[in-house]
Parts: sequence; structure tokens; C-alpha cells
Amino acid sequence: MKTQWYKNAVVYQIYPFSFKDGNDDGWGDIQGILSKLDYIKELGATAIWFSPLYKSPDYDYGYDISDYKDIDEKFGTMEDFDRLLEECHKRDLKVIMDMVINHSSTEHPWFKEALRDKDSKYRDYYIIRKGREENGLLKPPTNWASTFTGSAWEWISGTDEYYLHLFCKEQADLNWENEELRKEIIDILKFWLEKGVDGFRFDVFNMFSKVYPFKDDTSKSFQKGSSFFVDGPRMHEFLKELNEKALGNYDSFSVGESYHPSKENALEYVKEENKELDAIFNFAHLDSDNIGGAKFFYKPFDMKQFKEGLFGPQTDNYGKGWNTLVLENHDNPRCVDRFSIDSKHYRYEAATMLAAITYLGYGTPFIYQGQEIGMTNCAFRNIDEMKDPVSHFVYDLMKGYGMPGALAFRFIRYGARDHARVPMQWDASVNAGFNKGHEPWQCMNPVYKDINAEKDLQSERSVYRFYQKLLKLRKSDPLFIHGQTKEYDPANRKIVAYTREEEGKKYLVLANFSKRERKYPLPDFVKKEGLVLNNYEELKEESGTLFLKPYQALVFKG
Ligand code: GLC
Repeated sequence: MKTQWYKNAVVYQIYPFSFKDGNDDGWGDIQGILSKLDYIKELGATAIWFSPLYKSPDYDYGYDISDYKDIDEKFGTMEDFDRLLEECHKRDLKVIMDMVINHSSTEHPWFKEALRDKDSKYRDYYIIRKGREENGLLKPPTNWASTFTGSAWEWISGTDEYYLHLFCKEQADLNWENEELRKEIIDILKFWLEKGVDGFRFDVFNMFSKVYPFKDDTSKSFQKGSSFFVDGPRMHEFLKELNEKALGNYDSFSVGESYHPSKENALEYVKEENKELDAIFNFAHLDSDNIGGAKFFYKPFDMKQFKEGLFGPQTDNYGKGWNTLVLENHDNPRCVDRFSIDSKHYRYEAATMLAAITYLGYGTPFIYQGQEIGMTNCAFRNIDEMKDPVSHFVYDLMKGYGMPGALAFRFIRYGARDHARVPMQWDASVNAGFNKGHEPWQCMNPVYKDINAEKDLQSERSVYRFYQKLLKLRKSDPLFIHGQTKEYDPANRKIVAYTREEEGKKYLVLANFSKRERKYPLPDFVKKEGLVLNNYEELKEESGTLFLKPYQALVFKG
């Protein structure tokens, strides 16, 4: 049944809130998406991953689902979705649904019933524990922290009990130990697979299994409790069950969003022989400009970490399991405004260089909306312009510790998820063509007159045009799918280079990851004439020495 189509795929991620507002009510929607499918197809994508479209009260913008089998009305109806699926398939675009099943919304009927009736079977669908008494006061069962700040336990008012939530308090963790709950989940997956969707992206999947018994986390861990909720002991078993009872019976693709997995587990989850997931996202390279994975606490870009994160899984997984290639998503700032890049002067060069070094690797490319036109971070003026609850939680926390507001805002603005969530910039008209003028749910990035899709499409030298060429090159030779990745000059902190090799054939990807011109010897296994991709018009070479321009990226066929 399984054809492994995902190995040849290029996935485009849509964040429906911000992609295109078809009915001019300020929210993106399915009608809007329908009008842009050709744009995605033309880029060279072969699949779309939709961030959640399900019913949700939106405390975490769709990642808190209150009905797994229905579409939220702000996006449209189930009929609209069916049409979307059909129109995607007409264009040979596969459809990947987001599946958020580590937790449900507290407005999900299961949770409501669990709280309403203590004897309800739904009570055990969640993780509810008695609090403990300290000096006559009721305290949470353990000292674990939510990954979104504060305690991971929320008091159930009028009782001596708490429920677990590793994200917002409106996102209650599901109890995967409960077999009936797992059956419901399998049923949900089958519901969508039967409709014809082609796969799932599993939200924070490596938190499904928790470590029992629950105790205080006495380690020095930055994220209190993480050793109890990351890579738990039943993870592999749960994934195998999803595979055996749902995923494996369809020609589907499963990709898991991991939360700091151990190196060993990261590989086990995707080993083909294990029949768990087809691939996972491993974001280690995207933490190369922050401290310990905490996005807001920026540090000078660490190239060693970037290279290890980008290339590590490509080498570890080669021949054993698949991989993903990522630069952005709805949880990260724009890539051209990270990694100490000078996007003010070299936006086109840096955006194309990053794409070249990432998307010719071993794994499936994932491109986040707007990345293909080099969208930049937004110059938010104050915290109120940001809609992501996490930006507010962390801002308040910092201020609570006595940090001046302006400084706290600087940290937040560096790592905020909001940058990726401003409306897509389609053209230079009102609201960047996101809609016809109704105030969007999230403010626009004021640079849209300069940076927009229409402008990119009109120019031969644009980020969009480069992505097209790059994806065409990737598809032109199966070596880019199956070949081995070998890092070239790994210790170099300014040059990123690697080869893809198979049966004596090879390609070299070589880039200047800096804004200074650099001389670099052309490796002897390639020739200047073998150049197949360049983000500049020219390549200067003299007697075997390359004169690389700022952020110049080159691909040679060996
Ligand atoms: C994942 C999602 C993120 C969400 C979180 C909780 O990390 O990508 O947007 O807030 O899970 O569901």
C-alpha cells in the first residue's frame, strides 16, 4: 500500500488564519486558499500541510481543538473543505492535516463531560490528580512547568483536584494510557483518511506518553518536568499502534513535530523497520541563535550548532529512515532575520542561500507560507500588536522578575511566533491583498509594498523565482532524494558546503554564509562549467579560486 510518495514531495505549509481572506472578515479562510492553489503549484510544491482547520476556541489559534471532525466556521464548512481536497488533488497536490492529539481544548465535549460528571468515562481521558497540601494550602500535584510558562497544573475549581496542561491552560493533556481514548484517536485519523487526506503532521507527538509515577522534578532542568513528559516509555508502542490500526493501512505520510527528542529516540521514531512515523521535525539547527531552545533568549549565531542540527539527522538517518528539511514554520521568526543575517542589505541573497543549503539535503523540504518570497520579521511597536498568547506570557513573566518593559519587549520581538503569523503579503494593495480592507486579525507587516508575491512573480531575480529553480533542480535528479549527504569542510564557520552522492555521481552545494566577500578554493572534484545553480548572475573564479559574493550560493554537478 505504501508508495513512499513523501520522499519525492515538497510540502508547503499554510497557516489558515493568515494566508488569504476570501470573505473579507479579517480571518483567512478556505475560499481564500482555493484562490491561491495555482500559486503554490507553480512554486513547485507537491503537497500542502494545513495548520489546524478544526473547530477551536482559538486560545492557541487552532492548536486547541474542540471538535476533531469538523471545520471551524471562520474558515468555512466541511463542504468547503471537501472542495479544497478535491481541488488540491486535481492539481496533484497532496493534503496533510495537522493533528493535535497531545491535548484537546477544554471546550471539547470530552473535557466538559469529564468535569461535569466525576463518574464519567471521559474523566480518564485526561490527566487529573489530587493536589497536595502544604501548610494548610492546596498546591499542584508536582512542580512541573507548562512549556508556555507557569504551573503545568490547573486547579479544577470547587475541588481538591488539578488537570495537566503542558501548553495553555485551555489545552488539557490527553491520557494516552486510556485505551478507549486511543481508539477515539484512531477513529479520528480514519475519518480523515477515508475522506481522502494524504497524511498528518502530529503536533508535539513525543509528549503523548508520560512517565509514571508522577513526582517533583528535582533536576536543574530549565523546563521543569520535561523528563516526565518527553520521549516517555510507551512512545514507540503508541506510534506502532497508530500505524497498525490507521496510518499503515493507507498510502499516507506521517510527520511528527518533536519536542527536544533524544538523539536515540529521534532515529527510532523514523526507522522504516520500526513502522512508527515516516519522518519527524528536528529543530536543533533553529536553536543556533538562542539559549537552550528558549526562542526569546537570543545569543550570537552559532554556526557549529547550525551545521550539526542541519546535517546531523541527514547522516544519522541515511539508509535507515527519512528526514525533513525546515527553515520556518508558524512557531518561528522569519529565517532571513535570524542567524546574524543582514537582511536589510542582502534579503534576496540570504533567503536564496538559506534555501539552497537546506532544500538540496536528504529529506522532504517544508516551506512555510511567505518564506518563498523572503518575508521578513515584523517591526511590532508594542506587545499589544502581538496576538500569540505565548508572547504575552513570557513578557509578563520577564516583567514579573523586574525586567524593564522595553527590554522584555526586545527579547520577545526577537523570537516571537507572531512574525510568522502576520498576513501573507500578496501585493501592494490595501492589506497586501490579504483581503479587501477589513482589519485583519493580526496587524500587517508595514513592508508589504516592497515585499510581496506579485512583485516577486514579475521579476526574474526574486526569491520566488529562485525557489522555483531550486525545486526544479531537486526534482531533476533522483540523487537528491536518495543520495548520501556528506558535509564538506564542516569546521568552517563561514562556508556551508556538502555533497550529495550516489554511485560515483555527485553534486556540491557551496555557500558563503556571511556578508563579506570570501575567497574559497574550488574543490577539485567539480569544475566551474558544472555550475547548475547560482543566486547571483555571475561567478568569479581565477585559477581555481572562487570569489564568493555576500551570501552567494552555488550548486555544481561533479
Ligand atoms: C506545537 C505547535 C504550536 C502549538 C503547540 C501546542 O508546537 O506547532 O503552534 O502552540 O504545539 O499545541
